[in-house]
Amino acid sequence: MLKKITEDIFYLGVNDRQKHRFENLWPLPYGVSYNSYLIVDEKTVLMDTVDVCYADLFFHKIEEALNGRPLDYLVLNHMEPDHAGSIRLLRRQYPDVQIVGNSKTFGMLAGYHGITDGLHEVKEGDTLALGRHTLSFYMAPMVHWPEVMMTYDQTDKVLFSADAFGTFGTLDGAVIDADMNTDHYWEEMKRYYANIVGKYGSPVQKALQKLSGLDVQTICSLHGPVWREHKDKAIAIYDQLSRYEGEEGVVIIFGSMYGHTEQMAETVAHSLAESGVKNIVIHDVSKSHASYILRDVFKYKGVMIGSPTYSNQLFPEVEAVLSKIQVREVKNRLFGYFGSFSWAGAAVKRLTAFAEQMKWEVVGEPVEQKQGMSPDDQAKCVALGKEMAMRMKKI
Ligand SMILES: Cc1cc2nc3c(=O)[nH]c(=O)nc-3n(C[C@H](O)[C@H](O)[C@H](O)COP(=O)(O)O)c2cc1C
Ligand SMILES: [Fe+2]
Ligand SMILES: [Fe+2]
Repeated sequence: MLKKITEDIFYLGVNDRQKHRFENLWPLPYGVSYNSYLIVDEKTVLMDTVDVCYADLFFHKIEEALNGRPLDYLVLNHMEPDHAGSIRLLRRQYPDVQIVGNSKTFGMLAGYHGITDGLHEVKEGDTLALGRHTLSFYMAPMVHWPEVMMTYDQTDKVLFSADAFGTFGTLDGAVIDADMNTDHYWEEMKRYYANIVGKYGSPVQKALQKLSGLDVQTICSLHGPVWREHKDKAIAIYDQLSRYEGEEGVVIIFGSMYGHTEQMAETVAHSLAESGVKNIVIHDVSKSHASYILRDVFKYKGVMIGSPTYSNQLFPEVEAVLSKIQVREVKNRLFGYFGSFSWAGAAVKRLTAFAEQMKWEVVGEPVEQKQGMSPDDQAKCVALGKEMAMRMKKI
């Protein structure tokens, strides 16, 4: 039984509960869905495909929805293989299907699938009449690939938004947000954004501005629920994250071999709490997957990092997290830091350099602890937490 989004639009997506890591990188505790949609009008139009592992199931759904009709168009909003993977097989199944995309899409279509004919090229603002429905196309380059575009159905006021507004998490029964409990999707939307889209804040802002002129009633993303009741919340999350605007709260990230740096992190956290900060998240880099750490770096205004000195450098997993933050060019964070050593400290120096590179505002005095925590070290950690809490109240 196929689910309809509107009278003429079918949901044809699939759930992936098998993959352990999305892009072979990001853990999938709730799985992920690859969404595809079919508009049935005088012309029939498929919006994107799914991961090739699910092609067989997907083709059965297409056949059922078409109910004997030919497939006229395939619109490609995004060429990443989690959506574009089934194109070559689809073309074999439906040799007459016209493939709709922009010039960058077609470069990738030739490169991945060797398809160079039966193409219908669209540019910014172009329209495609289907009968009752008319589609218009908006380029969204670097959200998060160069060929990305969004398609707007003027008739039903539905936006096919590519990966934007997508979340990890399978669709467990319902497809439309109003028909389900959406609680767990929001954190997963932020984790998806931080890790996959996070570097491209300014292209996301440009795309949001472009879309602000459209009357969007429903958002059909390529992953996760169809947004209707909560569409404004989804847009607000994208707006906030792409402006690198953190909410009140502090993420404390530390590495520790024997617990001394961890003790510093605990002391700082305790002090933050005593000073009235409620949103405090502590991540041990050896326990938390980096994707959750990055989510919280995008989420909170305050970032505090602690590391022991390890072979004259940072604890390796802390260094790896710094690199991931740097790649994403996270802006405007309040930064506090601390480190430990036994004979020649290097951790705090490296964190100072990181703060300069990121142009983050350093809050309080960095604490550098030699060996065990002395009463003086403890007092400095308490002071650091207090300073951060006070600065946080001014945001
Ligand atoms: C493999 C290893 C390498 C280390 N390298 C350094 C170093 O280069 N310089 C230094 O001062 N301390 C070094 N240390 C000592 C730690 O920085 C120090 O014991 C610190 O207190 C450990 O903090 P932790 O208890 O949070 O793991 C090293 C320790 C280990 C186990
Ligand atoms: Fe993608
Ligand atoms: Fe995707």
